[in-house]
Amino acid sequence: MSARMWKALPLAALLAAGAALPSYGAASTLRDAAAARGVYVGAAVANNPLANEAPYRTVLDREFNAVTPENSMKWDATELSRGQFTYANGDAIVSHAQANGQKVRGHTLVWHNQTPSWVQNLGATDLQSAMENHIANVVGHYKGQIYAWDVVNEIFNEDGTFRGSFWYQKLGQNFVAAAFRAARAADPAAKLYINDYNVEGVNSKSTAMYNLVKTLKSQGVPIDGVGFQAHLILGQVPSDLRQNIQRFADLGVDVALTELDIRMQTPSDSGKLSTQRSDYNKVFTACLAVSRCVGITIWGITDKYSWVPDTFPGQGAALPYDENYNAKPAYSGILDALNAGSGTGDTQAPTTPGTPAATGITSSGATLSWTASTDNVGVTGYEVVDAAGTVVGSSAGTSVTLTGLSPSTSYTLRVVARDAAGNRSAASGAVTFTTAPGGGGTGACTATYAVTNSWPNGFQASVTVKNTGTAAMTGWTVTWTFPSGQTITQLWNGTVSQSGAAVSVKNASYNGALAPGASTSFGFTGAQSGTNATPTDVTCS
Ligand code: G3I
Repeated sequence: MSARMWKALPLAALLAAGAALPSYGAASTLRDAAAARGVYVGAAVANNPLANEAPYRTVLDREFNAVTPENSMKWDATELSRGQFTYANGDAIVSHAQANGQKVRGHTLVWHNQTPSWVQNLGATDLQSAMENHIANVVGHYKGQIYAWDVVNEIFNEDGTFRGSFWYQKLGQNFVAAAFRAARAADPAAKLYINDYNVEGVNSKSTAMYNLVKTLKSQGVPIDGVGFQAHLILGQVPSDLRQNIQRFADLGVDVALTELDIRMQTPSDSGKLSTQRSDYNKVFTACLAVSRCVGITIWGITDKYSWVPDTFPGQGAALPYDENYNAKPAYSGILDALNAGSGTGDTQAPTTPGTPAATGITSSGATLSWTASTDNVGVTGYEVVDAAGTVVGSSAGTSVTLTGLSPSTSYTLRVVARDAAGNRSAASGAVTFTTAPGGGGTGACTATYAVTNSWPNGFQASVTVKNTGTAAMTGWTVTWTFPSGQTITQLWNGTVSQSGAAVSVKNASYNGALAPGASTSFGFTGAQSGTNATPTDVTCS
């Protein structure tokens, strides 16, 4: 009996059936912790690092009990020329998974991307038969080896209408049911999923998906599950994620989070990594709260290999391991969610950590160190919190280097220890320190604002910052007021805050230092509604 079934049955029923109680314990890897909760934790896998990088395989096999080939089961990888099927890369991932006790999610059969032009150029009748033939071959090749297939992928627009892909334009929405039927015929044991992004919260797109699943089920179309891709943005986990998972589950389908990552503006800093830890924790916690949420797949392992920076320049650091395979705070956020409520009976909190000492104080950062807590089971990490209780940094050990702080600002910070069962210590004594001023020397600098591109409703601009003084600067702040309602949508090489028309941009951690006469620049994209007047009060300090 799986732990997931334990959760579904009342305790009294289990005892009446003579069942032994499950033995839970806080696990030390994601896959063990997930298995104890009756869910899987998966990773998207790419063939090159799988074949060539031992640390990639080590982390994959230690931490994950499911995999999804990131690209190698897509149409352009399996049937680039009509009727000629290639499975070497997909097979390599499947055999690795089988050798390491990992489920395989097949991704994806019918999509508008990564589909060869020969498919896109077919007439309607031929297109439908090519689709059914493709599904029969690919699903047939992997019959019995795939836990679940993403049968159709990304078929909705944001407003809930059908995406006007070549599939929809030529076949109407009937291609969806036909695809599911072909997949069921080719492998009756595989779970069949519809999969999409931006459907994690309750919104127009997820409601369209909900209505389609309901209709397909009422028509007897063999659909077993719904995949929420969950390509999320830092700090933006939908608050109704659990509720949305539950409403799909109530239709009688499984739900999986199929492509989770949580991206941020790069470079990361300790505050962003703490937010990311909490975001990952929230996503896992939401899934675990719904018994038909069967598992979560993360769209990669390490920030070394992620689709995010290629698609969203200036963003990244979206995965639980950094580029050197070090576990990030996100990792413990996941592990804590999986271990929470694991029934260890451990209710004893760690002892209070020592009052932190602050060293290495600059205009944007500081290092805090403290003496360790002890715990009856074991301390799993520490959080640095401000007076409001906001986590500004976290660490597995007894020091953390905080980055992304503001110049000339007083910080009062304390440390809290936690254990694997989620118990938290009392907060330590406080350390108070003030960061160094941002501008050094004479503080003289100029900022030159230039629009470099514009298009209906949008524009791109670049701002060059120059140290015009006689002393080195260690940081800068550029401010201006937008004259015509513009808003910044994405900014790189700086940290922005915008309040109404007022904008303030501080240097990033790596471009604050400017020798006399030296320049640096930052850029951004913005929204505008027809008028894009240049600000007249651009000021550097
Ligand atoms: O294989 C070629 C290589 O030969 C060539 O040298 C290189 C040059 O750019 O490109 C390689 O192909 C790239 C491929 O990934 C394999 O690395 C493509 O350019 C690149 O576009 C492709 O990106 C993939 C993307 O889907 C394409 O749509 C990402 O790896 C993959 O993570 C991403 O995954 C999708 C899911 O399937 C569906 N949901 C969204 C998700 C993120 O976009």
